Amino acid sequence: MSAPNRFSRSLVALHWGMAVLLLVVYLAMELRGFLPRGSAERSFAKALHVSAGLSLLLLLAVRVLVRLRAPVPPITPAPALWMRLSAAAGHLALYGFLLVMPLLGWLLLSAEGATIRFWGLVVPPLVAPSPALAHALEEWHEAGASLGYLLIGVHVLAALLHHYLRRDDTLPRMAPWMRPR
Ligand code: HEM
Ligand code: HEM
Repeated sequence: MSAPNRFSRSLVALHWGMAVLLLVVYLAMELRGFLPRGSAERSFAKALHVSAGLSLLLLLAVRVLVRLRAPVPPITPAPALWMRLSAAAGHLALYGFLLVMPLLGWLLLSAEGATIRFWGLVVPPLVAPSPALAHALEEWHEAGASLGYLLIGVHVLAALLHHYLRRDDTLPRMAPWMRPR
């Protein structure tokens, strides 16, 4: 049993595991640009991006189930209503991002008519090949990725402000190895 002022172990593991996986997803694509076109390393980076990205989708389903079953630990001292509402909106946006981005990627590869592999396993396409749709989806996927940087930036900043400025226990609830300030 975890203490009442901590998220459950499984939610903590999912939060940080998925954060690391997301870092891999972003890094694979951002670093791919530096690799020579047609190289094995470049294909590996893309395959890693796709497999890690689809893993996020799978883990999200587990995470939502765990989150709905476990109670959310209270923050001490209790934040004002506006803070609670903006946190809820921010978290919902992050969950939405983790759902929409892998789906856009999956749709994008489907529209390109590419073979989609999840750690070697072939995944079925979601739509029929269409160059025009693939082009639009690529733009949305790219815009979503930029929005993701913003959402995560605000999220991390909020966590740090809670910890160092407001000095409440928001962060140790999700990072149980940390001591409340
Ligand atoms: C949370 C999950 C994901 C994030 C944050 C993400 C982010 C990104 C980023 C930053 C890029 C580079 C965009 C650019 O500047 O060109 C990219 C490209 C791409 N992503 Fe994802 N992605 C995710 C999941 C997926 C998944 C699951 C797939 C496939 C099933 C996928 C397929 C692609 C493809 C094919 C490209 C390359 C588009 C091109 O050729 O330029 N992505 N993604
Ligand atoms: C250094 C990076 C990060 C820090 C310090 C951090 C910190 C936290 C903290 C303290 C909470 C609890 C907030 C609360 O109860 O009000 C939280 C929740 C959450 N975090 Fe992060 N986080 C980080 C990265 C990420 C990333 C990369 C994502 C995914 C895109 C993410 C998604 C979420 C979500 C969806 C919740 C809501 C949990 C819930 O109540 O269901 N976090 N995070």
